[in-house]
This record gives sequence, C-alpha cells and structure tokens, in this order.
Amino acid sequence: MTEQEKEARLLERLERGELVESPEEMTEEYRENLIHLMLMQADSEIAGAFGYVPWIMKAPTPAEMLAVASITRDEVRHGRVVYKLLEDLGVDVESRIRQYDFTLRVGENDYLGQARASDDQRVNIFYYPIETWTDFILFNVLMDRAAGHQLEDVLQGSYGPWRRVMQGIMKEETMHIAHGDTWLKRLGRNPETHDELQAGLEKWWPRVMNVFGRPRTRRNAIYRKWRLKIRDNDEVRQAFVADVAKPIAEAGLVMPTWTPDWEKVPEEAQAAG
Ligand SMILES: [Fe+2]
Ligand SMILES: [Fe+2]
Repeated sequence: MTEQEKEARLLERLERGELVESPEEMTEEYRENLIHLMLMQADSEIAGAFGYVPWIMKAPTPAEMLAVASITRDEVRHGRVVYKLLEDLGVDVESRIRQYDFTLRVGENDYLGQARASDDQRVNIFYYPIETWTDFILFNVLMDRAAGHQLEDVLQGSYGPWRRVMQGIMKEETMHIAHGDTWLKRLGRNPETHDELQAGLEKWWPRVMNVFGRPRTRRNAIYRKWRLKIRDNDEVRQAFVADVAKPIAEAGLVMPTWTPDWEKVPEEAQAAG
C-alpha cells in the first residue's frame, strides 16, 4: 500500500468514528503529530510536577503539604503514563529525560508570549516560576483548568490508548482545579490577601491565554484532520474563559482583559515582547 492509499483508508476509518490502536495503522503524518501532542503533555506534566516540589515544604499547613504532595504525585503519574504510550511508539524516553532540564525556569518578569525557553516540548506557561502560595493556587485554578479544556478533545480523539488513559487523568485534574477554586475563594474574600491575589491573577492571565495558541493555525487543521483535536484553538480558549469566569467572580476578583499579541498594532506588540 502506498502512503497515499494508507492515508485515504485511515481518513475513511476515522470518518466512521473508528479508533487507531497501533502504530501499524498510522500514516507518517498521523504518527508525527500524535507524538508531538503527547510529548507536549508528558513534558508539561513533569515540568509542572517539578515546579510544585518546593511547595510541599512551603505549604501553609500540614494538610496542605499533603495536598501538594499528592498533586505532585498525580502529575508525575500523568507524565509516566503518557511517556509509556510514547515508548510504545518508539520514542526513547529515557534519553529524553536525561537530555532536558525540566526544572529550568525563566525570570519572574520575563515575558515569553508564544515562545519557548528551551528545546523540551512543555507548554510554555510551565517555564514561569511559582514564587508564592498565591502563584501555586492560581496555577491550579488557571492552568489545570486550561489543560483540562485542551485535553478534553483527547477524550473524543482518534487514538484509543491515549483516550483511555486520559479518563483517569482528567478525574485527577478536576480535583486539582477544585483545590485551587477553594483556595481562590478563601484568599479572594480575605481583605488581607485579596489585592495580592488580584495582582497575581493579572500576572498569570496573559500567560494562560497564550497557551491555547493562535486561531486557525495550519497545525491545528492537521490535528483536526486526523481527529487528534476536535476544536479550533480559539474555541478552546473561549470555553476556558467562560468556565473560569464563575470562580473568579465568586472570589470577588475582576477578570483581567487581554489583547492577543497577534491583534496588537506593531509598536505595542514590540513593547510587550
Ligand atoms: Fe496533570
Ligand atoms: Fe494538575
């Protein structure tokens, strides 16, 4: 079978709602894009876990030490589960782990926009440091939630093994979000911590809005063709914004405004970059 015939046959099967279960069924384009997306997830899970590690020690109470430790464990587990799927596709995970420094962070005031700070494939928000307990909570509220929205497409996606492991992962992410939302309310409603929380929200907001990517990219079209994603980047971003509005309001916070870099006039974009 030529690659073209293979492609036509796979597209037909996906059209019928069938799942891909093994590398033999994949076209080269399918395999490359699937690997890219799973690497983004696995690298993010591990980089995320490493960012949380110091907060096991710095959490405000023993109960919170345990909560952070268990969130950290969940993230390492998510990373391991997805790396295992990657190994089945021939990725050399062990040398990858040796090659990259997942503890690497940019400075607190560095702005990445859509750029990345090293050659691992983590979503770029995982390059920003978690400096305070407020940052930790905002990370749960914003990034665990954003990841949940992004990975929701996987649950309806075409790669069976990934789809199945995502069910358990999503359950744990929901717990992380709930942990964040509880604390968001507590910190937001306390006059002593309210302003710091609002300032933190404004700091993290452009970072999280950037993780979804630009609307209508060529890459997104390829993901959708192979049912590795279902929605456009911007649709996912809008779903996230609609969902996070409620906890933000309940905590007595004001939702920040955001202008995408790609909609800014050139001088403004330059100043931000
Ligand atoms: Fe995770
Ligand atoms: Fe999480």
